[in-house]
This record gives sequence, C-alpha cells and structure tokens, in this order.
Amino acid sequence: MATIRLGDIAPNFIAQSTEGEINFHEWLGDSWGILFSHPADYTPVCTTELGTVAKYKPEFDKRNVKVVALSVDGLSSHKGWINDINETQNTTVNFPIIADEDGNVSELYDMIHPNSDSKLTVRSVFIIGADKKVKLMIIYPASTGRNFDELLRVIDSLQLTAYHKVATPANWNSGDDCVVSPSIATEDISAIFPKGYKEIKPYLRMTPQPDLN
Ligand code: BEZ
Repeated sequence: MATIRLGDIAPNFIAQSTEGEINFHEWLGDSWGILFSHPADYTPVCTTELGTVAKYKPEFDKRNVKVVALSVDGLSSHKGWINDINETQNTTVNFPIIADEDGNVSELYDMIHPNSDSKLTVRSVFIIGADKKVKLMIIYPASTGRNFDELLRVIDSLQLTAYHKVATPANWNSGDDCVVSPSIATEDISAIFPKGYKEIKPYLRMTPQPDLN
C-alpha cells in the first residue's frame, strides 16, 4: 500500500458493486467522484449515511460528481441492507456500493486502520477531480456520521478554485465573498475580477464569488 497524497492520481481498480463491475477510472469518465467507505452493513450510523447520500444524489449530479460507497461486506449483504436503508430512511439507494470482500480497494486506499479495527474500513472520504487526481481526503471514526452538507460545500470550493484564481475563507458557502489568490498582484486584481475587491490587508483581498452573475 502506497500512501495517497493530495494531488496523486486516485489508484484505479476493478471491483464488484451493487450496480455491476466497476472499473473505477472508466466509471468516473469525465466526472468528479466521491469514494467513501463505511465500517459495515446493517449498522445504524452507516444506514443513516447511505440514506442521506441517496437523498443528496441530485446535488451531487448538479455538480457532476459520481458517488460510490464501499465496505468489505459482500454483494448479497449490500443488497439486503439496501432494502433496510430504503425502508428506514424513506429513500431509494441510487448509487453503487462496492463489495470489497478481498480488501483490495481498502488496501489501495488505506481504509483499514488497525488501531480502529483490523477487519473493518473506517469512514474514509476521497474526493477526486475530473483529472482523476485526489482533491480531498477526510477520515472519520466509526462513531461519527459524516456531514454531507460539508462535502457539498467542499466540492463547491474545490470546483470554484480549480477554475478561478480565488481561495475560500473559513466557513465559506457558495455565494459568499472569496479570497483573491495570494499569487495575484494587487495592481492586477481589477483586470481579473471586474466585480471589484476590498483590500483588508495587503495579503487579505476579498472579491465577490467570480462565477456568479
Ligand atoms: C454504525 O454505523 O453505526 C457503526 C459502525 C461501526 C461501529 C460503530 C457504529
């Protein structure tokens, strides 16, 4: 297992999923992607997480992001559990769940942490750009369900900053002012950001979000 770092190409793999065999890079195509692992099927927090992702799917689609879940449980377990998720979370699971029974993908992505449990995947999240590079990694413990609003917020920031010379400040949400990239000289800001800017300090220049009308 090689350590994955931000900016690395997300390792490719072929795996069985509830929606058939997935060749990860081919499946991603030109989309962004989220690969997220959960400890085990038929567990309470994971049930709420996967139900939430199913409800948020239109938001991921809007951002051109494909979502795929993973655990080391098998396909028949996943399929049975999906019925429970649909029933209890009042939704329809609408994304693939990888059955990583041999631990191949978990190993590639370092999703098994022996200090947590040597057999189960932790709650890892990998956001992958359209260039197949890893843009963000977050690891949560089994006891804490993920905040999928935060993942949408991060995707908005990642996609904005990939195409515009801005960064996003603390607690930023889409629509808020952005930080002008430190690499831009103050005398060049007006030409790049016609909506204007405010200089709070020479190193802290704010501008309206550039991709909004
Ligand atoms: C859960 O999803 O509820 C869970 C899974 C593993 C350990 C603890 C909680």
